[in-house]
Amino acid sequence: MTQANLQQSTPTAVARAPRAATRASPGNLYEAKVLSVHHWTDRLFSFTTTRDAGFRFHSGQFTMIGLDVDGRPLLRAYSMASSPYVDTLEFLSIKVPDGALTSRLQHVQCGDTVLVGRKPSGTLLVENLLPGRVLYLLATGTGLAPFMSIVRDPEVYSLFEKIVLVHGCRRVAELAYRQLIDEELPRDPWIGGAVIDRLLYYPTVTREPFVQQGRIPGLLESGELSRRLGLAPIDRGGDRFMLCGSPAMLADTRAVLEKFGCAEGNMSRPGQYVIERAFVDK
Ligand code: A2P
Repeated sequence: MTQANLQQSTPTAVARAPRAATRASPGNLYEAKVLSVHHWTDRLFSFTTTRDAGFRFHSGQFTMIGLDVDGRPLLRAYSMASSPYVDTLEFLSIKVPDGALTSRLQHVQCGDTVLVGRKPSGTLLVENLLPGRVLYLLATGTGLAPFMSIVRDPEVYSLFEKIVLVHGCRRVAELAYRQLIDEELPRDPWIGGAVIDRLLYYPTVTREPFVQQGRIPGLLESGELSRRLGLAPIDRGGDRFMLCGSPAMLADTRAVLEKFGCAEGNMSRPGQYVIERAFVDK
């Protein structure tokens, strides 16, 4: 299967960060066509769109996307869930019945137009991390989106011995992309070898029975996560972290990482961890 096929066969989408509705000048936007829509649950959906040839991004970044509402763009920040190397874009979103954007966006269908901001941004970049051995990607809910791009980016596998993708959700049905991660990525001819050797996936559920349970900060602090994955205990010397989730999840996870002696990284000073809020909540 080619990367392009893989992309289209695996509906993904990312919605992140709670932000106020944003109006942007049309010059910063382009019109993309919806190619596929997948409804994971009554709270979660993803969709793919065309990608402008000039739209470049790094895995882990987000951009503004939205709809034309009464002649004006209504936009929110969404992470790209797709690999930077495929010619379509993929986004993951929650559905909020009275949410300004998602109440409309959840009804998009193939062929519809969505607006995509031309200027990707974000902090979930390997450049903001010190070199390390294990990269932990820690997500709750739609915070998974940027990490779906990262685990589909072959470059990341050349930088770390192991990549650990942890996705925390309330319910099993909300573990979006589980089948893709478990079954399709390892078989992908382009990236499958790296995935089999290096990617460890740890879905965890908090509100119904599942093989793995618990919130991410507790799993980290107790050592349960590294123990169950057969990895060494958390060590700031070689472990690196990217966090994407709700503000509460980010605060609690950051507090645990700081206890381990980790520091947040940025473009001018790389560190042991970086943080991005999972954006769209309305
Ligand atoms: P819980 O079910 O115990 O609240 P949501 O859908 O509300 O964004 O939640 C997604 C996941 O994030 C759920 O598993 C939820 O657990 C978990 N979660 C909520 N708050 C925190 C937090 N402060 N730290 C870590 N995980 C959290």
